Amino acid sequence: MKTKVWAHRGASAYAPENTLEAFELAVRQQADGVELDVQLTKDGKLAVIHDETIDRTCNGVGNVKDYTMAELKQFSCNKTHPEYTAAVIPELKEVLKLLKPTDLTVNIELKTGVYRYKGIEEKVLKLVKKLEMEERVIYSSFHHPSIIKIKRLNPNAKTGVLYSDGWIHVVAYAKLIGADALHPSVNNLRSEKLIKESKKKKIPLHVWTVNEEALMKYLAEQGIGAIITNYPDIARRIVDKKG
Ligand code: G3P
Ligand code: CA
Repeated sequence: MKTKVWAHRGASAYAPENTLEAFELAVRQQADGVELDVQLTKDGKLAVIHDETIDRTCNGVGNVKDYTMAELKQFSCNKTHPEYTAAVIPELKEVLKLLKPTDLTVNIELKTGVYRYKGIEEKVLKLVKKLEMEERVIYSSFHHPSIIKIKRLNPNAKTGVLYSDGWIHVVAYAKLIGADALHPSVNNLRSEKLIKESKKKKIPLHVWTVNEEALMKYLAEQGIGAIITNYPDIARRIVDKKG
């Protein structure tokens, strides 16, 4: 199957990451999917933001978990791309509603490794079900108990094992915990060993964060499941062999 292009935090090379603007741009750049990060606010809302704090991306300081969603909305989040003056932290439901009329896949990364965000798995599953987008979503996390829990709560939910370092038995591990895909860092893909093994065991690779053209080309030629990139426009061109 042709390699898919997933926009990492939206088209984050061109617009502030994890904002509606970045996801809209990913759609316009013809991505097949988007990746996004979810955390819980003080009032239990699902906020789409990568860091546990707002300091790097917004014009404020402090932990996401210490603000209500309404308070978070007061901050501008255009530090990386100042021309996007209206960019703010979106709620997950806003992003899903934006993407619902499209056919894009949504890779929801649960940022549950630092604060453990009690009940986040139930909340995300409930929202996705309510919006009738269950077939369109794949859940991932570096904190594997979260994806194990997702699978326990809904055996039909798709999950991906997110990891950074080279693991020898990662394919067997994914099978053991019932995951549907591997989400390795591109640094694990310098040899073909993992690619071969994943193909043999029929577990797709969704590789992040692939921003170099040569690597995009290599991974597309290898027929991996998805390239997760900040540059969906470039990956689109390469995957479609248009130059
Ligand atoms: O899901 C792939 C990738 O987003 C994981 O790393 O730090 O960008 O969330 P990070
Ligand atoms: Ca992520």
